[in-house]
Amino acid sequence: MPQKIIFDTDPGHDDAIAIMLALASPELEMLGITTTFGNVALEKTTRNALVVRELLGKTVPVYAGAERPLLRERISAENVHGHSGLETTSPHGLSEGPDLQEPQGRAEAQHAALFIIQKVLEHPGKVTLVSVGPLTNLALAMRLEPKIVPAIKQIVLMGGSLYLGNTTPAAEFNILCDPHAAKIVFDSGAPLTMFGLNLTHQTLATPERIARFRALGTRVGEVAAALLDFFRQHYQRRYGYEGAALHDPATIAYLVQPDLFKLRPMFVEVDSTPGPGFGRTVCDYWQVTEKPANCQVALEADAEGFFELLVERIGRYR
Ligand code: BDR
Ligand code: CA
Repeated sequence: MPQKIIFDTDPGHDDAIAIMLALASPELEMLGITTTFGNVALEKTTRNALVVRELLGKTVPVYAGAERPLLRERISAENVHGHSGLETTSPHGLSEGPDLQEPQGRAEAQHAALFIIQKVLEHPGKVTLVSVGPLTNLALAMRLEPKIVPAIKQIVLMGGSLYLGNTTPAAEFNILCDPHAAKIVFDSGAPLTMFGLNLTHQTLATPERIARFRALGTRVGEVAAALLDFFRQHYQRRYGYEGAALHDPATIAYLVQPDLFKLRPMFVEVDSTPGPGFGRTVCDYWQVTEKPANCQVALEADAEGFFELLVERIGRYR
């Protein structure tokens, strides 16, 4: 039986690669893609989700969600993902070229948070929520209908970090986008698995790895390579890395092939108080608080195995 998932996302280059992986993986049954503000504004992330869906020739429904965070002002990451959120290094951008067309389809009328509530209650204990953007839609769903919390199978998220931030010295982007929402989710009691920066900076899309997508000789492989070529530039500029940290697909790879990762249970608390730690995921690695673990934190990735899986699955699109 494939695992039922809802994929909550703000595409986003790495989000797009995660969608490619998920929709090529028979181990997963994608009930819907829900979108949130994040890398760019909601209107653009929703458009990008539709663009990727159509590129892949799929019909999974897309539900638009939160336009802004619960309390703080909205931030975004055009510096990483470009103005559309899915820029490439091609002079016109793939969105204007032959590969990525403007979407024909539209998002469903239902709000993302209401869709999450409906599906979790329809299949109690069976739905995994995968979050690779700000946690606002999940927090809204939990507050609108607290009955969903014990009915969620698990939440697998990209966000936070065991150590350093990427948007402030302390905070990772997805958590910093809406620390209050993240706090609701981390404190909820739902089973959590966290893929933070300490993990995703181990899975670098280097030029050699990107070339493997291009060598597939398919349209989807070419788009994946073109997206990663653009994404890589930020990681060269900011971190001096050869490749892009491929964050979001780790969540899906974990569901498909969990043995690619080593995890450790910990108590993780989100700092939602004003100050330099705002948005930080404080991870109690050594159990110094003696609080029971609320989260499995991913520590190590088999990066080669991860890229093997990605290339093999993305190679399934014709
Ligand atoms: C996260 O922020 C976004 O820019 C990426 O899509 C990823 O989800 C990494 O901090
Ligand atoms: Ca993302």
